[in-house]
Amino acid sequence: IPVDPFDLVIFGGTGDLARRKILPGLFRRYCAGQMPEEARIVGAARSALSSEDYRALVAESVREVSGGRACEDGTLDGFLARLDYVRIDARGSDGWEDLAALMRPEMVRAFYFSVGPGLFGDLAERIHLHGMASELARIVVEKPFGHDLASARELNATLAAHFDEGQIYRIDHYLGKETVQNLMAIRFGNMLFEPLWNSQYVDHIQITVAETVGVGGRGEYYDTAGAMRDMVQNHLMQLLCLIAMEPPAKFDPDAVRDEKLKVIRALDPVEPHHIVRGQYLAQDGEHPGYREAVNDPRSRTESYIALKTHVSNWRWAGTPFYLRTGKRLVARSSVINVMFKDAPHSIFGQEAGRHANVLSIRLQPNEGITLQVTIKEPGPGGMRLVDVPLDMTFAEALGPDGEDPPDAYERLIMDVIRGNQTLFMRGDEVEAAWAWTDPIIAGWQSRGEVPKPYDSGSTGPGDADLLMKRDHRAWRGIK
Ligand code: BG6
Repeated sequence: IPVDPFDLVIFGGTGDLARRKILPGLFRRYCAGQMPEEARIVGAARSALSSEDYRALVAESVREVSGGRACEDGTLDGFLARLDYVRIDARGSDGWEDLAALMRPEMVRAFYFSVGPGLFGDLAERIHLHGMASELARIVVEKPFGHDLASARELNATLAAHFDEGQIYRIDHYLGKETVQNLMAIRFGNMLFEPLWNSQYVDHIQITVAETVGVGGRGEYYDTAGAMRDMVQNHLMQLLCLIAMEPPAKFDPDAVRDEKLKVIRALDPVEPHHIVRGQYLAQDGEHPGYREAVNDPRSRTESYIALKTHVSNWRWAGTPFYLRTGKRLVARSSVINVMFKDAPHSIFGQEAGRHANVLSIRLQPNEGITLQVTIKEPGPGGMRLVDVPLDMTFAEALGPDGEDPPDAYERLIMDVIRGNQTLFMRGDEVEAAWAWTDPIIAGWQSRGEVPKPYDSGSTGPGDADLLMKRDHRAWRGIK
């Protein structure tokens, strides 16, 4: 179904995110017939380019990302025809009148701030000043949304000076992932799980986001952030919220976000001995170690985190949540495991703590959901038990003709145009997440903690296994 016609301005329109994610994503939505004839996309950046140059640049990125597919029959030309470019000075006055002249009245207008947070205020102010902040205007901002609670508050205040909260879309691209939304469908669309979804039946929850990539060319940013700010404060926190929150009364933006906020506020502070930080080492002389990658032989920034926390409320008291994420690990795998308790009495003599029932929600790769159950091992060998997965891999469930699910960015940008904020973070959520993270980071700093080295291609530092072992538990394998 096509969305309403819109003007979309991408500040940082020549940057990496725009070229790798935003524009190719928009192209796929165009191919899927979701973009109306009158839609217009304006790239805005510092470089002196003509609209013609910009279209050529976008064509190149789209071809690279989509592997040349769908571009032969003139589709790409049709998409490019919707593109314009304006050279703009974010801190000055150049280009703003030109941009304002392109905006059409009575139309949805989205401004995507694909730039560093240092420019958010300048952009918001100028959009306002040049009469573009109409009621139908909305702004989209990327992470990092601040560096700590104080800077996030400042950013929120800066944006609030020019836009209402209902016009501000803070992106966490994890919320746009297919399985993440399915998590809500599974929880709140079925009767089967919700009665068991509490500390009486759930032993603990594991959330793992493992990556094989290192910090790559982003060393400068990453070294000021680390895994805590880069991944835990936002992506893992959002996953935790969706797992732990109470059923909202409606699937509407504020109802969902109110419930998520309550979870963040119920999180216990993390004890120092419940956190393990790691930093990856070089691999086979082929891949540089973390410290080389960020060009600081003494860097104390973590590229890995494992931690235990509790959601201190009626539903979850006594059920720990274990979170871990890291770079240069053995496999790329994002998965949430809900580990159910043992049956209260073992009639078959199974050992304790074996977790017969595990609900695994796989975000990537191979998106899908698996419920592990125990059955009798087939054959004449007596009453021997085995664990088998009831597997629902989305690609299989939807069949070979099933449409590829849209990439997170595609979905989220279309939600911006539709005016649906459900999958975006509200200002108070972001602040609450920082309020939980700040003391943890401050603790490391005051104690002068150095992260534990771990081998690239491993599952992270051994201490992360100990964190579990002390509780008589173990991580589910990453692969
Ligand atoms: C980003 C982080 O937000 O998410 C990156 O800044 C990380 O460091 C990335 O690699 C992971 O996203 P995805 O979608 O590849 O899991």
